Amino acid sequence: MTLQTDGIAPHGGILVDHLATLDQKALFLDKADALPRVSLDERAFSDLVMIAIGGFSPLDGFLKKADYDTVVTDMRLANGLPWAIPVTLSVDEATAAPLQEGALVRLDDPSGRFVGVLELEEKYTYDKAHEAVNVYRTDDESHPGVKVVYDQGAVNLAGPVWLLQRDPHPLFPAYQIDPAASRALFRDRNWKTVVGFQTRNPIHRAHEYIQKCALETVDGLFLHPLVGATKSDDIPADVRMRCYEIMVEHYFPQERVILAINPSAMRYAGPREAIFHALIRKNYGCTHFIVGRDHAGVGDYYGTYDAQYIFDEFESGELGIVPMKFEHAFYCTRTGGMATSKTSPSSQEERIHLSGTKVREMLRRGELPPPEFSRPEVAAELAKAMRVPEVVS
Ligand code: ADX
Repeated sequence: MTLQTDGIAPHGGILVDHLATLDQKALFLDKADALPRVSLDERAFSDLVMIAIGGFSPLDGFLKKADYDTVVTDMRLANGLPWAIPVTLSVDEATAAPLQEGALVRLDDPSGRFVGVLELEEKYTYDKAHEAVNVYRTDDESHPGVKVVYDQGAVNLAGPVWLLQRDPHPLFPAYQIDPAASRALFRDRNWKTVVGFQTRNPIHRAHEYIQKCALETVDGLFLHPLVGATKSDDIPADVRMRCYEIMVEHYFPQERVILAINPSAMRYAGPREAIFHALIRKNYGCTHFIVGRDHAGVGDYYGTYDAQYIFDEFESGELGIVPMKFEHAFYCTRTGGMATSKTSPSSQEERIHLSGTKVREMLRRGELPPPEFSRPEVAAELAKAMRVPEVVS
C-alpha cells in the first residue's frame, strides 16, 4: 500500500493494493487444494476485484460486523469514515459452519476458477430486513437490490481478501483502467480537476448534455460505465460500450475524455448508491462526480432528486469529492437545444424526453429513437443490437 501524495487523496488516504504479490500467489497456489472453498457469484467476484484494485479503498476486505452495523445504520465505517453500501460476502449456514475464524478460505469465481483468498476474521449473521430498509429505503422484494439481499446466504464472511492475479477484462481489455492507472493518466494529462460519470444505460442526449456542461468547468471527463452485474432487462454492457466508443470518436474532443470500465455491480440503491459511486470515482482520482435525476434509481422507489439531497447529510469536505448536481435534462423545441427547467421557459409539450422503457420498446420494434433523444449513430447501433431477430421459417 502506498500513500498518495499527488492528485486527490483516495478515500481514507491510502489506495488499497490487494493483488497478491508473487510470493503470496505462490503460497496460495501451494495451499489451494487444502483450503476450504467458497464460490463467488458475479457480484461478489466483482467486489473482490474492486477491493483488490483499490476501487473500494479504504476497504481491504469484506466488512466485519462493527463496520457492517455502522454502514447500515449511519452510512459510516466504525471509524467514522463515510461509506454508504455494505460490501459483504454472504453464504448459507451449511457453507459457513465448517469455516474456522483465523483460517484462509479459497475463493472461486462463478466458473469455479481459483481467483482469491479470504483471511476469515469473523463470521456473523445479520438482519436482512434491517439492511433493506436502511440501505434501499424499502423492504419490497420486487426491488432488484433488496431481492439480492433476501436471496443471499444468512452468514457474512469477513476479513481481508487478496486477488490472485489481475486478468484483462474478457470483453473490454483496452478500457480496463484501474485506479492507480487512471490516476497516472490524469497526472500525465495534467488534469487538476476531473469529473466522473457513472452510467448503466446507453448514452443519450441528456447524458451528453450534463457531461459536457460539467466538462465546461473542469479539465477532464472520466466516462466510467458500469459493466458488472445489472438487472436482466438493462441493456448489455458490450452494446453500451460500443455506443460510448461511437460518441467519443464523433462527438467529444478526445484529449479531454477518458473512457474506462467500472467493474462493479449495480445495487439500484438510489441515494445511498450515489454516495458509493462518488467515493469509487474519488478512488479512481476524480475530483468531481455527476449526479443527475434519479441516480442509480429503479421504479418509483426514490424521489427524482433524493440522490442529490443525500450529499447534504455529510459535512463539507467529508466525502472529499464534489457532487455536480443536474436537473432533469430534455430536448427543448422552443430553444432548439438541450436544456433543463433551470435554463428554459418551455412548457411540458415543448420538451422531448423518452423513458428507458419506451426507448427499449421502440428498439425492439426496430424503430430508431429520434435525434432529439439519441445521436443517430448511437440509435443505429442500439437498433442493430436490440432488434428482435426475424423468425426464419
Ligand atoms: S444510473 O443508474 O447509472 O444512474 P443512468 O445511466 O441512466 O443510470 O444515469 C447516469 C447518470 O445520468 C446519473 O447521474 C443520472 O442521474 C443522470 N441522468 C440520466 N438521465 C438524465 C436526464 N434526463 N437528466 C439529467 N440527468 C440524467
